[in-house]
Amino acid sequence: MRTLARGPRRTAAVLTASAALLVGLASAPAAEAASPHRHRPVTLDDLARQHGRYFGSAVDNPELADTAYADLLGAEFGQTTPGNGMKWDATEPQRGVFDFTSGDEIADYAKAKGLKLRGHTLLWHSQLPSWLSSGSWTAEELRAVLKTHITQVVKHYRGKVFAWDVANEIMNEDGTYRENIFYKTIGPSYIADALRWAHAADPKVKLYLNDYNVEGTGAKSDAYYTLIKQLKADGVPIDGFGMQAHLALQYGFPYQLQQNIQRFADLGVDVAITELDIRMVLPSDATTLARQADWYSQVTSACLAVRRCVGITLWGYSDGHSWIPSTFPGEGAALPWDENLRHKPAYDAIHAALTAARS
Ligand code: XIL
Repeated sequence: MRTLARGPRRTAAVLTASAALLVGLASAPAAEAASPHRHRPVTLDDLARQHGRYFGSAVDNPELADTAYADLLGAEFGQTTPGNGMKWDATEPQRGVFDFTSGDEIADYAKAKGLKLRGHTLLWHSQLPSWLSSGSWTAEELRAVLKTHITQVVKHYRGKVFAWDVANEIMNEDGTYRENIFYKTIGPSYIADALRWAHAADPKVKLYLNDYNVEGTGAKSDAYYTLIKQLKADGVPIDGFGMQAHLALQYGFPYQLQQNIQRFADLGVDVAITELDIRMVLPSDATTLARQADWYSQVTSACLAVRRCVGITLWGYSDGHSWIPSTFPGEGAALPWDENLRHKPAYDAIHAALTAARS
């Protein structure tokens, strides 16, 4: 083949191949045309891109050692989020001592694979280092600690992440503020300040609030609606609302998902589905997997139906690497790929929803 392909014959061969490719592209359905290589299968991210969206998956540092998993993630998806690597306990394990090893590992992987990167998360009640959670702080001291943390971490990842979950899980189910250490010590002003400090450290990065059980309408999502409206009115930098979407078949599909996404978009912020998984009580069977597939399809379609819903991130993509079994004993099977990286019905349902939607 090598000798044949040299010289004028090579040109002729290339031309013939290109012509065949062009003919192929012209007659192929839109989904096929998105693939730059003839034999590369069309990925979920290829399809999402046709709608101006991304389709991503979180990754946790130890998972990078599973090369089959890491390679497929890099090929199939267009975006990633570190599962743990940028949290406070990882990035500032001692006061004023920053460690970006884990976060950088994910950032380097994202760059190597051409994935957009969401930063997660600057402020959360969970996974705080003990020097912070068991310290006793005045409001002034804790404000300084928070400002330093946000400034250092955001500056470090400037130009590498396109969005930050600035504040994670700051509301209770009833729509009151969660009494995390920041709320208890500083009061609710820490939220606007966190956004302002993040903006000062990287004026270009998109700043999000992120939470679970906010996908449907209800007291908790109402609280975010009111908060974001107020932040906007006050001129506080806020660009997006992240709906984690850790769904569970036994609790029902989020009420009015699409309308809820739309009302946040109408406030003038982007919406992202940031941590999607759909768990069930084990063992799974054909019926529950079909129901799960339908839910994945519905979430995908709801996002595509709202112009400002910018993308969907799975919280890991295979049942072999999922936080669910250890966090919710007896539950699992939450993702579109099984432990052996084979497609489940959910994968086909997402694929079909991305194909069916009109751009
Ligand atoms: C989870 C990680 O996936 C686990 O590895 C870790 O032990 C606990 O945190 N909401 C969030 C994520 O915002 O950061 C959580 O990630 C899942 C729930």
